[in-house]
Amino acid sequence: MDISAFLGQSRVLIVAGKGGVGKTTMVAALAHLAARAGLSVLVVELEGRQGVATAFGSGDPLDYTGSVLKAAGVESIGDAHTGSSTAIPPGTVQARTITPDDALLEYLADHGLRRVSKRLMSSGIIDLVAGAIPGIRDILVLGKVKQIERSGIADLVLVDAPATGHTMTFLSSAGGLLDAARGGPIRAQAADVVQLLSDPRRCQVALVTLPEEMPVNEAVEAAYQLEDKVGIALGPVIINGCYPSLPGLDSPAEEAAVSAGVDLDPSLVSSLEAARRFRLTRQHLQEEQLQRLAHELPLAQLRVPFLFAETIGPGELDTLSDALAAGVHALPDRAEVPS
Ligand SMILES: Nc1ncnc2c1ncn2[C@@H]1O[C@H](COP(=O)(O)OP(=O)(O)OP(=O)(O)O)[C@@H](O)[C@H]1O
Ligand SMILES: [Mg+2]
Repeated sequence: MDISAFLGQSRVLIVAGKGGVGKTTMVAALAHLAARAGLSVLVVELEGRQGVATAFGSGDPLDYTGSVLKAAGVESIGDAHTGSSTAIPPGTVQARTITPDDALLEYLADHGLRRVSKRLMSSGIIDLVAGAIPGIRDILVLGKVKQIERSGIADLVLVDAPATGHTMTFLSSAGGLLDAARGGPIRAQAADVVQLLSDPRRCQVALVTLPEEMPVNEAVEAAYQLEDKVGIALGPVIINGCYPSLPGLDSPAEEAAVSAGVDLDPSLVSSLEAARRFRLTRQHLQEEQLQRLAHELPLAQLRVPFLFAETIGPGELDTLSDALAAGVHALPDRAEVPS
């Protein structure tokens, strides 16, 4: 499948998965891939983490107004702050945070309450309201995502979701509020969010996992819950941290040294042998988990290699995006989502 067609399937892509599986890193890699394909990209960071900016080589903290992480034709430029409502140029990655407090302030200001909004916030009204209306924080954040989606300022909006348990609450809050609220602005906002989440042409989830037992279990469970409880469409599952297979691991280190005519110190031979066995076991377990995932979750898989690097920076991002691109190219072209 063509990269633009793949990334153009829905304007919003929520990247979700268990804690630490590489969600933020995959958001950065997908953003890089999309920008390379000429799309305009907005990354939305919900938890105030800075991993996306670091991967693009920027040391500046992300904020609510947004900053440019990659300009068209430039590898990474860091911190140029932007207006949050201006259209993003093609081939550019911008990133911003969305917090419930900022989203509420903006909502109040947009509804003619700018002067009182700051005072209301400093008096802690958000906590009061959040206590009275469960799920309101999530609706404020998702309402802002919906507004961004509707504004069309970016071809692709990538949302770096919280870890799985929280994501499930986060995404099901709108449905809960819609059932509970009889009318008024909260119900209207919740209805808009539910519409966004249940339309596969507007919004999908990409689950990230690792080729290991627990993360695979969690990904399978999350996939069914997301479909059943939230009614959100699932894109391919991204399997991060795959060890590439190494050729030549079948012969023991000692035999390999003899047949290569190299004379090695016995302690080195035994270390090499331990490394060989470790890697073989790891490859075997990985293969088992990948097959189990394919069997239990009928979704296309995009495999991304584990990189032996200290940190993920712009160079690593290239490699990860290339791996995603190769996976996407190998996917069959899909028929249009029926309307
Ligand atoms: N393919 C990879 N190869 C090597 N290291 C990786 C890879 N993907 C992610 N990492 C590293 O693993 C760690 C966790 O990744 P990341 O922060 O993206 O996970 P996360 O799912 O967003 O975590 P959290 O749930 O805490 O937000 C980071 O240090 C990151 O640099
Ligand atoms: Mg993260």
